[in-house]
Order: sequence, then C-alpha cells, then structure tokens
Amino acid sequence: MKTAITEMFGIEHPIIQGGMHFVGFAEMAAAVSNAGGLGIITGLTLGTPEKLADEIARCRDMTDKPFGVNLTFLPSLTPPDYPGLVKVIIDGGVKVVETAGRNPQQVLPALKDAGIKVIHKCTSVRHSLKAQSIGCDAVSVDGFECGGHPGEDDIPNFILLPRAADELEIPFVSSGGMADGRSLVASLAMGAEGMNMGTRFIATQEAPVHENVKKAIVAASELDTRLVMRPLRNTERVMTNEAVERLLEKERELGDKLKFEDILPEVAGVYPRIMTEGDMDAGAWSCGMVAGLVNDIPTCRELIDRIMREADDILARMNRQMNAGQAA
Ligand SMILES: Cc1cc2nc3c(=O)[nH]c(=O)nc-3n(C[C@H](O)[C@H](O)[C@H](O)COP(=O)(O)O)c2cc1C
Repeated sequence: MKTAITEMFGIEHPIIQGGMHFVGFAEMAAAVSNAGGLGIITGLTLGTPEKLADEIARCRDMTDKPFGVNLTFLPSLTPPDYPGLVKVIIDGGVKVVETAGRNPQQVLPALKDAGIKVIHKCTSVRHSLKAQSIGCDAVSVDGFECGGHPGEDDIPNFILLPRAADELEIPFVSSGGMADGRSLVASLAMGAEGMNMGTRFIATQEAPVHENVKKAIVAASELDTRLVMRPLRNTERVMTNEAVERLLEKERELGDKLKFEDILPEVAGVYPRIMTEGDMDAGAWSCGMVAGLVNDIPTCRELIDRIMREADDILARMNRQMNAGQAA
C-alpha cells in the first residue's frame, strides 16, 4: 500500500511503532522496520547521547530499513541533554524523528537542516495545527483511547481523526486503539495516511520486555485500563494493578491537594521493574484500551502481514458490496 506516509518515510506499509519507554530498544525498532513498518527507538529510555548513539548503531546492525527515534519533551527539573541527543540522531544517519509531549520547536531547525522528517504526536487538533505551523512534516493524532498520555480533552478517535482531516494540510497517522486491519481501513477512511500502534506492538515475539508484560496485555480486556494523574493535569492511561488502585485511592483522598511527591512510589523509576523484571504490580505503566483487542503474541512480521491482509480483504469486501449495490 502506498500513502503519503509510506512515501515520506520510505517504508512498505503505513504502520508505525510509537516510541515506548523501556520497550523501544533496538530489537523492537529493527523488528518493526524489517517487517516493512517504521520502528522507533525511544531516546529518553537510553538517556544519554552516548547510549543513544550505541543503540542507533545496534539497530543499524539489525536492519538496513529506515527506522526512527522518539524524543519526548516532558516537564523536568533536570532536563535531558536534548542538543546532545539530536546530534547523535543526526550523526547516526537517522531519517525520522517522532517528537511528543511539549512543543518540539527547539529541536526542529537542527533536524530539518539535516533533512530529517519530523512527525509530532498530538492529542488535539489545535496542537496538530501548531505542529504544522512550526514546520513538522506530519503528525500522529493520538486519541483518548491511547496508552500513555492522552492529554486532557478526552476526544476519541472517531471524532478526533475526521476533525484533524478537516483542518490539517500535512499528512497524519491515527494513534490510540489501533490493532488490526479494521483499524487501518477505518483510519484511512477518516483521512489518516497510516496508523501508529503502541500497546499492540508490546505483545509481539520480538518486543524486548518480560513475558509477564506480554501475557498481561493478552489477558486484559478493554475495561482494564485506568486514567491516573488527572489531578496533576498529566493524565496517563495505564494498566490497572495494585499500585494503580493505591495511587487512585491517594487521588481520591487528597483531591486537589495531591502533589507529584505523593505518588512517587507508584510512578517513579517503575518501568525497569515492570518491563525488564516482570514485576507487574511494581507501579503504573502505560497501556491502551486496545489491550481488549490483543489476543496473541505474533512476530512483528506476522502481525504486520496479517494487518495488511485483513485490510485488503475488508477493502475487497466493501468493493464487492458497493458494486453489488450499484448493479441492483
Ligand atoms: C508502555 C508504553 C510506553 C510509552 N512510552 C512513550 C514515550 O516514552 N514517549 C511517547 O511519545 N509515547 C509513549 N507511549 C505512547 C505510544 O507511543 C503510542 O502513542 C500509544 O501507545 C498509542 O496508543 P495504543 O497503545 O492504543 O496503541 C507509550 C505507550 C506505551 C504503551
């Protein structure tokens, strides 16, 4: 399939693996890229420019296909060395950067000068338009369903995607709640040029996370995520567990007196314990409602091939239905 996104990024299928903390290592990105999608290394998980440079080199050893790096801009007392991270991205010959969180303007000139395509992940039409106005090449429109940070507007993709299509001139992909061929065809119908998946890619053979994480996603239903940190206006959709229920209890008790420090035990530094050690009650970890549609742990190639086959079948069936309708 050819879309504005496959052409822009030089990939075979319009499917992107979004940056994911402690998941988006070289193994993940290379597996997705080798299967014809766009794999993405999560820059901040590596933390330092030196470690990111090594990870980019490792990924390059595993694939000769295009892959990207995610740079997430979060409010932080000790900000990461963004200029250093950008430098190793450029020196490493990476051709796509997925930005997320705050406005990525500070890194755009250097990335654009190096000929790197920038896709910014946004949870609203107004942020998408801002991304377009500052020179991003594309946006990833992340609906309320998504795993991770859905923002504070709570607009699901059945509204958000057509709204983005009505307003944007640059291409966009759907993100949040995407899992299969149905998701891809629906995204295209609503004006997207492809789709971005997070949660679905964690439950794959190559995802470099503990088996417990993959099994938890397969076992979960669409009812098993919770929104945490809403009182701090830093809402995150996570898989429910003991720590999350404790965190929500603190939110109920403290109300608008809640401070970030109150929930540190449930959110700070928990990713390695969950993703690497498989301690599933260690804290809050991002997971989308789409877990309810994830029932197996295929290879990335099996997953992407299946999505493209399903999309073909759906489009062929719809064509037959249209033609039958016209003939009648
Ligand atoms: C475990 C996990 C970690 C994530 N970490 C990040 C991150 O560090 N930076 C980022 O921009 N997005 C992050 N995301 C969001 C994904 O890139 C993607 O936008 C989201 O998962 C899409 O929703 P879905 O899970 O319904 O597919 C994360 C998502 C998950 C599930």
